[in-house]
Amino acid sequence: MEIRGLGYIGITAEDIDEWRPYGNMLGAMVSDDGVGLRLRFDERPYRVVVGKGTGGLAFAGWELPDSDALENAVAELTAAGFTTDRGSVDECQLRNVRGLVRTTDPGGFALELFHGPVLDHKLFVSPSGVSGFTTGAHGMGHIVLGTPQLEESVDFYINLLGFRVSDYWRPGGDDVVFLRCNRRHHSLALVPASEPVLYHFMVEARTLDDVGHTLDRHIDSGIPISMSLGKHTNDQMVSFYSRSPSGFDVEFGCGGLLVDDATWTVTQITKPSFWGHRSPTP
Ligand SMILES: [Fe+2]
Repeated sequence: MEIRGLGYIGITAEDIDEWRPYGNMLGAMVSDDGVGLRLRFDERPYRVVVGKGTGGLAFAGWELPDSDALENAVAELTAAGFTTDRGSVDECQLRNVRGLVRTTDPGGFALELFHGPVLDHKLFVSPSGVSGFTTGAHGMGHIVLGTPQLEESVDFYINLLGFRVSDYWRPGGDDVVFLRCNRRHHSLALVPASEPVLYHFMVEARTLDDVGHTLDRHIDSGIPISMSLGKHTNDQMVSFYSRSPSGFDVEFGCGGLLVDDATWTVTQITKPSFWGHRSPTP
């Protein structure tokens, strides 16, 4: 399957309105689509949709290059025994895509495979002065999911959706698996968990100054920081983790590694960060 990247995500929050100032503070343009809030980070109308709920991942939108690729994806999912559900014209319009198909991964996460994103050509202007976000061919960023079906899910994303393993981490005897579908080191990481859970999503700003200023805005406005500034060992992202109004974290970083498939070797890391990423002292 020709997944090109993480196109968008849907998340939930008990109080959607808390995402307005929070989204602005992250640097996103926030708008209302009549159903939920939209966070815009680039030329797409949104990369994150916030709907009413208990605080988690509602769906992950994985991007395919065209309608033929989506039809092939449906055939492959059906042949592998997964049910698929086509989005209606109205549902596609709401998502700003030309076509989408829903399915569910082995861990219970809702996926939307889509093609033909409808662009917004109004200039992206970050309300908080972030210079821009690294998206394009690398997708919107990454998501880290806890799944009760690690082995089946890894098999699903690799052998059906076409992801590749970038590396492993084995903190407690179980694998954490970092998976890529484009040059971004990982668009998805899977962690063993007793139930499906979104641990965080990551957005990548263009510069270290963007990260520093955004960190300052957190401190100035009293928004909790879950993990201090640090540098990851595998994707080399310099980032900090912010506690979102939904309860899960948002990783805000820059400088993520781009993988060259021709020279990449799969490794196992033994710590997640070279430095930093410390939990706040109580
Ligand atoms: Fe991350």
